[in-house]
Amino acid sequence: MERLDKIIATALQISRKDAIALIKRGRIEVNKETIKDPKAKFNENGAVLFCDNEQIYYNKYVYIMMNKPKGVISASNSKDEKTVIDILPDDMKRKNLFPAGRLDKDTTGFLLITDDGELAHSILSPKNHIPKTYIAKLDKPFDENIIKEFEKGIEFKDEKCLPAKLETVDGDFKIAKVVIKQGMYHQVKRMFSHFKITVLELKRIKMGALCLDENLKEGECKYLAKEDISLLSQNQ
Ligand code: URA
Repeated sequence: MERLDKIIATALQISRKDAIALIKRGRIEVNKETIKDPKAKFNENGAVLFCDNEQIYYNKYVYIMMNKPKGVISASNSKDEKTVIDILPDDMKRKNLFPAGRLDKDTTGFLLITDDGELAHSILSPKNHIPKTYIAKLDKPFDENIIKEFEKGIEFKDEKCLPAKLETVDGDFKIAKVVIKQGMYHQVKRMFSHFKITVLELKRIKMGALCLDENLKEGECKYLAKEDISLLSQNQ
């Protein structure tokens, strides 16, 4: 919770004194209500702010961790399908949000939603080799040979994958932990299908060094703090 004059000063990049004057003149709306008390406290991330009927934002950019459910697509808008932006809670919605990277419609787990194009680009750029960690449920077990092939880099028809790490989670080699450093189309599913193994379920559990918050149920989101954002671009 933060005082309104401080929130407005930050959002508009003006002095505290000027913010107080704006608030006292009744030019600031918070959550659809005109607030004239500069000392009133609000959640600086959740409050919907308007100045002279135009929406303003406390943070220049926002970073949202979503536990993506199945059945929604990783896009900003779509005519026919529900998108990850559609299912954001109303108080988290703002202009220009987009998913930084794609998870398939039937993949669940960690999806970053932001309006910071530069950060999204740096996390997704194959040059930066940011690891993405997945748990894959398989129809058949994998073996040591496949682990070695993943390490060498699987070759698709037209492109070669960077080395990937594969390990068993259940000890029976039918639930796999996979770490890849690119984001090719259907990459994890295609890497397994190279060995005639079908991925039955896929969940992303980590991006860079930042783990999906286990308390987030599918479809739920939370804002990331500054420390979390820097973990996103670490190579583990
Ligand atoms: N690899 C896939 O095959 N699907 C995803 O959604 C993510 C990675």
